[in-house]
Amino acid sequence: MTFSTAFTELLPVRHPVVCAPMGGIAGGALAAAVSNAGGLGMVGGGRGEPDWLGRELSLVTESTDEPWGVGFLTWAIGPQAVDQALAHAPRAVLLSYGDPGPYAARVRDAGSLLIVQATDMDEARRALDVGADVIVAQGTEGGGHGGRRATLPFVPAVVDLVGPVPVLAAGGIADGRGLAAALVLGAAGALVGTRFQASHEALIAPGVGEALVKARGEDTERNRVLDIAREAGWPDQYTARTLRNRTLEEWRDREDELRAAPETRRPYREAAARGDLDVAPVWAGEGVDLIPDLRPAAEIVAALLADAEAAVGRASERRQL
Ligand SMILES: Cc1cc2nc3c(=O)[nH]c(=O)nc-3n(C[C@H](O)[C@H](O)[C@H](O)COP(=O)(O)O)c2cc1C
Repeated sequence: MTFSTAFTELLPVRHPVVCAPMGGIAGGALAAAVSNAGGLGMVGGGRGEPDWLGRELSLVTESTDEPWGVGFLTWAIGPQAVDQALAHAPRAVLLSYGDPGPYAARVRDAGSLLIVQATDMDEARRALDVGADVIVAQGTEGGGHGGRRATLPFVPAVVDLVGPVPVLAAGGIADGRGLAAALVLGAAGALVGTRFQASHEALIAPGVGEALVKARGEDTERNRVLDIAREAGWPDQYTARTLRNRTLEEWRDREDELRAAPETRRPYREAAARGDLDVAPVWAGEGVDLIPDLRPAAEIVAALLADAEAAVGRASERRQL
């Protein structure tokens, strides 16, 4: 059995699974591995750093003939990042966190699909207004940056708002049961980040994979502290879900103090540069309980599919009881 949805038909791809464009972490190797396995791999273009982008975009184009995409932090880029990506003919460009309006026509005119990630109903409406081809409804359970809506009620609310535009569910989906739930909620697929971060192909610092395998959902927390400490410049409306660490414990509820005093951030910078994970952020969603190991991305895709099919089968057997 395979899942055929409005998303798989539009792209087209074999499976309704998208690897999130995790900035600097989802490089060309991860994106290509997911695409070759039948999902949609996405290069995490982040802030559009030209050298990184050039290298990883070349890698993905050399490594797959299947559709692939690229994503950006919309508030942090300019048109040149989108143009650099479009020159490599991605099947899709995903824009998150900010107004996609200035880039929508560029993406469409280049023949790529526009995917917009929304963290609340206003962003979902704006995505619809700019003509997004696919809209991601991202719940607060997700790893990395996002908003306050929970995946379970947010996904069907976005489906109702934007239909017939296909919706991808994101946030806390880390195994096949989550994928099955997303489809039952009316989504046309799932966008998965944290689970793919724990893959062989992800560009992660030493220790991050092991930390993800060890962590439980309650070890994660949405916060602004780590963005302030690393002077990341994020708009206030977005917080980031990370593993709890010493920096977070020390500065929780003291964000203004941290922001105001540059000298308080120096020890952070030095320890983060050494790769000390008790200081630097490990982005992680509540789905970490469901990550037992680090695996090749293709195996993650295959397991998501097989387990989703089994979960749907079990649910319909129960219906007949
Ligand atoms: C390590 C990491 C980095 C991320 N970086 C980005 C990013 O650069 N751009 C983006 O649109 N979303 C980013 N996200 C969020 C994902 O797009 C997605 O919404 C989220 O991972 C879904 O929740 P999950 O982590 O529970 O699967 C990131 C997520 C993680 C875990």
